[in-house]
Amino acid sequence: MLQALAGEVLTRPPLWLMRQAGRYLPEYRALRNKAASFLEFCYTPDLAMEATLQPLQRFGMDGAILFSDILVIPDALGQKVDFREGEGPILQPIRKAADIKTLKKNSVLDHLRPVFDTIKRLSLEMPPGVTLIGFAGAPWTVAVYMVEGRGGTDCGTVRAWARKSPDGFAALIDLLIEATADYLAEQVRNGVEVIQVFDSWAGVLDDDEFRRWVIEPTRRLVRRLKTTCPGAPVIGFPRGAGKRAEAYVAATAVAGISLDHTQPLDWIAGTLQPKCTVQGNLDNQVLLAGGSALERRTREILEALTGGPFIFNLGHGVLPETPPEHVARLVEIVHGWPAAVAERPVR
Ligand code: CP3
Repeated sequence: MLQALAGEVLTRPPLWLMRQAGRYLPEYRALRNKAASFLEFCYTPDLAMEATLQPLQRFGMDGAILFSDILVIPDALGQKVDFREGEGPILQPIRKAADIKTLKKNSVLDHLRPVFDTIKRLSLEMPPGVTLIGFAGAPWTVAVYMVEGRGGTDCGTVRAWARKSPDGFAALIDLLIEATADYLAEQVRNGVEVIQVFDSWAGVLDDDEFRRWVIEPTRRLVRRLKTTCPGAPVIGFPRGAGKRAEAYVAATAVAGISLDHTQPLDWIAGTLQPKCTVQGNLDNQVLLAGGSALERRTREILEALTGGPFIFNLGHGVLPETPPEHVARLVEIVHGWPAAVAERPVR
């Protein structure tokens, strides 16, 4: 992964999957029952470490993503965050300037100490050649959850606030840039080698909003990380960015860009890959379906993107209903690349 992120073109690309740990694995569900709440699970190094390693033990990916969540930042800032079974995260929403003042920015790193302990222990356990990936939510996406109070909305409340009083909303984004930069730098100090910044809700924004609330905060975050931890490459994931991924790469100077399944392979190879390492972009629905669709699409992606610096991944996280055998087959195809010529689809 580190070679790919340094711009090297590899015959067989490295592979990891967003949400490679989680409910589609029976061993994860068994482990999850040992903690009273999801956040407690994230803050218990024994459990978080085990959950991080489970997909590696079963499938042998080339990267291990720290088991945690993007919403540990609002939790560390003192916002009430609750994960409910079947409902996803619920937060006590922040809706105005006065609410921002209630957030406690000074205790973030202390609160997240168990996450750093998990990383420190994991970094000693990584098999040779396997990269330890740290992560955080991008300021915009974390702000969406903080303001909406939940995911799965049209982001109308947060967009209305940002439109009505951009300077007031910017105070929240600025605070998140600071907290996230400190959090990620501390992850690197404790042993993560690569950072992924998840901007899962980037796609709801118009072009002006995208520049101001996705590109600009990410640019500032990446710039800070380049001074505090220059050795750790950053992968940005502005999900739903479409063609705006090009402006995102140019302005933020990320080492890698993670692409979703809607972005065309010829455009990725022709426009993005000459400038940046690309990661992606198998549709998680195709992984769920398995069979010939999985075989065909995986090979199409490999053919289109192995000519430049590339990391194989999904376009978004593994879905909870995904059969683990489909993941095993995907890893087998990618690890077996380049396949014998006869196995390639005839075009
Ligand atoms: O394997 C991994 O990818 C590592 C762990 C990881 C989790 N969440 C574990 C998790 C990572 C990298 C995340 C990131 C995350 N969390 C994102 C960005 C990526 C994306 O999917 O867009 C977002 C938006 C969240 C917020 C979040 N956390 C939601 C919306 C939910 C509920 C819906 C769901 O997918 O379950 C969570 C809970 C969560 N985070 C679970 C896991 C394994 C399931 C909770 C449980 O096991 O009880």
